[in-house]
Amino acid sequence: MKALLLAGGTGSRLRPFTHTGAKQLLPIANRPVLFYALEALAAAGVTETGVVVGDHEREIRRAAGDGSAFGLRLTYLHQDRPLGLAHAVRIARDFLGDDDFLLYLGDTYLPEGVTGFLDRARAQPVDARLLLTRVADPTAFGVAEVAAGGDGTAAGSTVLRLEEKPEHPRSDLALVGVYAFTPAVHEAVRAIAPSARGELEITHAVQWMIDHGLTVRAETTAATWRDTGSVEDMLEANRHVLDTLVGGIEGKVDAGSTVRGRVLLAEGAVVRGSHITGPAIIGAGTVVTGSSIGPYTAVAEDCRIEDSAIAHSVLLRGARIEGAPLIQDSLIGRGASVLATPRLSRSHRLVIGDHSEVHLTS
Ligand code: DAU
Repeated sequence: MKALLLAGGTGSRLRPFTHTGAKQLLPIANRPVLFYALEALAAAGVTETGVVVGDHEREIRRAAGDGSAFGLRLTYLHQDRPLGLAHAVRIARDFLGDDDFLLYLGDTYLPEGVTGFLDRARAQPVDARLLLTRVADPTAFGVAEVAAGGDGTAAGSTVLRLEEKPEHPRSDLALVGVYAFTPAVHEAVRAIAPSARGELEITHAVQWMIDHGLTVRAETTAATWRDTGSVEDMLEANRHVLDTLVGGIEGKVDAGSTVRGRVLLAEGAVVRGSHITGPAIIGAGTVVTGSSIGPYTAVAEDCRIEDSAIAHSVLLRGARIEGAPLIQDSLIGRGASVLATPRLSRSHRLVIGDHSEVHLTS
């Protein structure tokens, strides 16, 4: 079975980060989201993987390479514009040939992986097999209506109807972004027209399959899952990975510092006169001075943190924080600086990029 991993798209909900980088490369516990997907595919016994890429192709190629580091063989497929998930399947037609394949959205964080799902798809092939999970707000997702019974068995439940981001959802079962298809899907993706938002929706292609009498089954997972398309979801996925972090101090911690709980301090990181509370991860080349970091904080490589406190946050490479009383629930971009001004000043000076967000306390 092949895989098709989607790593194109615009990532509009993750601006400003996606102005300069691919959302699939934003880090969860200092590793790109996409790497978790690549590992899940390899663990499920997939080797041939097509990676659909758009504007950030170069960056994604640089990060994932030929896939050999993951035990995969990657073929990059360029999508000129993000015209939808079904459009991505259309452009992958030659790569996929007449093979069954797994479609995996590259911003999906699914720690349980896809091994069980793929094993069941291989054991009982159907035209389309979907993975669902119950969510509090189904309006943000593709939503499935399924017949009673069958879930928990390899056959899965029969899918009756699908809707993409419905205003009035008929169920709370959301599509998580993992689908197993036979080549029957190719006719469906060719047959559909763009949706109201101008995209060729895979949800509509699967609905077309149902309408044409093809077999579409679904299974429901209760495992942790995140579409890492928003800042809140990125922070939540980060917390989840850090919960299973194995600590280790490879960098330098001076005598004036304390490290409590599971902390992974990379080689080349330096901590002076600071308190680190796990779970937390601190990347190589980062220097922390007179600060308090954690819990649930991931600091990437080459950051500078001085006289500050940071909790429940993610800092990307090269970020600089100085004199910040407490930063929490924050995502700080590459090379971004957060600097305190003298107390006398009653004004805030901001130099922030397009679509950035700043929350000021009065
Ligand atoms: O997260 C699960 C949801 O993912 C499902 O419930 C929805 O049914 C499904 O349509 C999808 O919705 P999103 O709005 O979250 O999709 P998004 O635009 O974020 O794209 C998902 C991934 O596919 C992401 O890694 C970007 C990539 N992509 C997206 C488009 C539209 C492409 O590679 N090409 C594209 O044209």
